Amino acid sequence: MRSELQAIQADFDQAIDQIQTLVDLDALEVRFLGRKQGVVTELLKQLKTLPKDEVGPVGALANEVKTHIADGLAARRRTLDNNEIAIDVTLPGLARPVGHLHLMTTAIRQISDVFARIGFERVRYPEVEWDYYAFEALNMPADHVARDEWETFFIDRQPIDKKLGQRVLTPHTSSGQIRKMEEGILPIKMINISKCYRRQIDVSHVPMFHQFEGLCIDRGVNITHLKGTIDYFVQNFFGPERTTRLRPYHFQFTEPSFEIDINCGICLGKGCRMCKEGWLELGGAGMVHPNVLKAGGIDASVYSGFAFGWGVERTYLMKSGVNIDDLRALYKNDLGFLQQF
Ligand code: PHE
Repeated sequence: MRSELQAIQADFDQAIDQIQTLVDLDALEVRFLGRKQGVVTELLKQLKTLPKDEVGPVGALANEVKTHIADGLAARRRTLDNNEIAIDVTLPGLARPVGHLHLMTTAIRQISDVFARIGFERVRYPEVEWDYYAFEALNMPADHVARDEWETFFIDRQPIDKKLGQRVLTPHTSSGQIRKMEEGILPIKMINISKCYRRQIDVSHVPMFHQFEGLCIDRGVNITHLKGTIDYFVQNFFGPERTTRLRPYHFQFTEPSFEIDINCGICLGKGCRMCKEGWLELGGAGMVHPNVLKAGGIDASVYSGFAFGWGVERTYLMKSGVNIDDLRALYKNDLGFLQQF
């Protein structure tokens, strides 16, 4: 039995060196120490057949062999465990996907940055607004036809105040003019950028879009200040070679009113295949109507002001190098599209 034990140990020592995986190691453990039919276990069962004075020394040897095998298994298990979970710290890591700002967030920041440089304070006002601020106080009384131009979403709730009227989703940022004036601090130089809502959708319109609205009120403000401010913006936002022209127009809340055109970035106003006549329409502007100043609690005989309100999406898409031919793409949440910018 002694020699059998020695043979088992030798067997084990040879086998353990071949083991490369934890699965094989488990199998080896079963083969030698398994409670049923393990080689060592089986041999130990025969101890009692030995002559009495042999039992002690052979038993001791058997225990030594058993411990030797158990230690060998444990040592091998430790090295295999370490290898199998080993991390090669020199391998390049997996980069986490990093997002970026939405194109319109970037546009809004650029716009407010340009105006900040000439002292326009960035403000925001409610996007669920009262009829009063969106229309009434802007010189558009109930039933006035001019209201039709703003394809307004009305909120289906009973008005709670006769003067404020119905709740609406802001169809333009001009409601912020009255809100700002009501704060009662003069002079005013604000740039109000927020979401607007209109019932419209096609290549150049989405039902939710953004406008930026400038308002400047002080003593002696006139059209040259409007023109100078707009040109400053256009040259800083689009490039130094760009300029604007004012084209007579009509808004109820400005008098006189204009549409602002910018010279085409390709032909610089001469006229080309892209723009046809050399000018592209940016948006509305004008001198604040005396009725609007009055609604905002400002003495129109002392103060005057200008205002303009343009679409952020529309303006940004006119930047050269931005080739987006369908404005709706901005809000489809299609990463393939958005990641290009
Ligand atoms: N609120 C007007 C619009 O949405 C734009 C505008 C703003 C015009 C301010 C004049 C002055 O079309």
